[in-house]
Amino acid sequence: MVKICCLGAGYVGGPTMAVIALKCPSVEVVVVDISVARIAAWNSDQLPIYEPGLDDVVKQCRGRNLFFSTEIEKHIGQADIVFVSVNTPTKTRGLGAGKAADLTYWESAARMIADIAKSDKVVVEKSTVPVKTAEAIEKILIHNSKGINFQILSNPEFLAEGTAIQDLFNPDRVLIGGRETPEGKKAVQALKQVYANWVPEDRIITTNLWSAELSKLAANAFLAQRISSVNAISALCEATGADVAEVAYSVGKDTRIGPRFLSASVGFGGSCFQKDILSLVYICECNGLPEVASYWKDVIKVNDYQKSRFVNRVVSSMFNTVSEKKIAVLGFAFKKDTGDTRETPAIDVCKGLLGDKAKISIYDPQVSEEQIQRDLALKKFDWDHPVHLQPTSPTAVKQQVTVTWDAYEATKGAHGVCILTEWDEFSKLDYVKIYENMQKPAFIFDGRNVIDPQKLREIGFIVFSIGKPLDPWLKDMPAMV
Ligand code: NAD
Ligand code: UDX
Repeated sequence: MVKICCLGAGYVGGPTMAVIALKCPSVEVVVVDISVARIAAWNSDQLPIYEPGLDDVVKQCRGRNLFFSTEIEKHIGQADIVFVSVNTPTKTRGLGAGKAADLTYWESAARMIADIAKSDKVVVEKSTVPVKTAEAIEKILIHNSKGINFQILSNPEFLAEGTAIQDLFNPDRVLIGGRETPEGKKAVQALKQVYANWVPEDRIITTNLWSAELSKLAANAFLAQRISSVNAISALCEATGADVAEVAYSVGKDTRIGPRFLSASVGFGGSCFQKDILSLVYICECNGLPEVASYWKDVIKVNDYQKSRFVNRVVSSMFNTVSEKKIAVLGFAFKKDTGDTRETPAIDVCKGLLGDKAKISIYDPQVSEEQIQRDLALKKFDWDHPVHLQPTSPTAVKQQVTVTWDAYEATKGAHGVCILTEWDEFSKLDYVKIYENMQKPAFIFDGRNVIDPQKLREIGFIVFSIGKPLDPWLKDMPAMV
């Protein structure tokens, strides 16, 4: 029986290993983590992450050939293949702070593997890492190897949150990079065998190590670039009366461009896009390519512009002040169908509104008050560094923010509503009831284009939707956008 051990029971390690266990009944999979609480949650009925379909997969294999454990040493020791799926956040201090990937967690995982291993192992980079990381990891392993043969593979993960199980069941491709030596090729084949249990062979791509590592960063950069492109066009749409949905549809009909990932929004969020582009920018700078670095940096610049443009639109529409006004925020997660709030645009929008002294009332079907208060208290880039987590937010912020589990409660008595996540339920709310219970004039700022602006205007709302022709009210306001 092939034995797999995965270091890191997070958004990637958990679902990926659960699907491998489901699809490969003859493989034993153990997911280990330094977080005792996280492992306890994986072993309970309340999994640590919300992901459609995940409960079902875990229930089918947990205790059969899927295990979650904190006994890291024991399971590394027994494994043939060790996946490393630890966090690789942006560095917060020192050389490359604010750009470079922090490989502290990765390096300590590699040192642990080198210390513990007593038999040959294939070590798989599942985390997203800078190109050439495998070379550094190889050095750590080989210099501490005591004669053990380690083969490093790069097998980046392309799942998106909210659709992780679907993406893992039916991936566009699985990418495996390895050394072009006989041992390297053998290791690539061993991992390929695992995926071949359910992924058609023509979708399993094998490359050299550096291509695999760089492909992951490039794919995320391309995806984020599409969103920044359509968001940049959305600003021009608002200025000219064009409708970004119509423009995106027309542009996407070109088969060379394609229709997906062209939804204008308040900005992209999530733990990957910004972090991976910043890492790419840093790698370009380190390789003496400032023009390439500056090209990709602008994708983030446009994303930041989109978020601050949204805040400015809210404030300028509401007579240039939101001080002491109740603003309801519908949706805090970075996208629908996840409770993940890492780098969610809602954090920047809420901080912007709080800066103008608004009183914010937040509702998200999957995000708790504790999580929201913590997110609003954290400094940029601190969110994915567990050791830096600040447990509570300052009292001033706490007093300005309330969190409810009900959209109607959040919007009651509000002057304005901001929709920041595209949860399906937000297009089905009773907006007549919401309007009746709000202060007048009642404003809606739709950062995800989930509501029909015309229908809401008929109810009486003043509506702003990203990239749509402006409400007559907004046309007359001097917008600082
Ligand atoms: P995460 O923070 O949810 O999980 C990482 C886990 O690793 C944490 O639970 C942490 O406690 C654990 N960990 C850290 N050091 C460890 C060690 N030495 N031994 C055992 N466990 C350790 O992160 P994630 O979202 O799962 O992302 C993991 C990696 O995958 C990152 O590099 C990320 O860029 C990449 N990735 C993420 C996604 C996504 O959608 N979240 C998609 C593709 C790739
Ligand atoms: C992303 C990549 O898609 C995935 O392949 C990679 O493995 C991890 O990073 P994820 O961040 O989970 O996945 O979600 P994704 O669907 O890519 O959305 C990222 C952000 O972009 C979200 O905030 C989403 O709302 C936003 N987005 C997406 C848009 O604003 N417009 C779009 O058209 C698509």
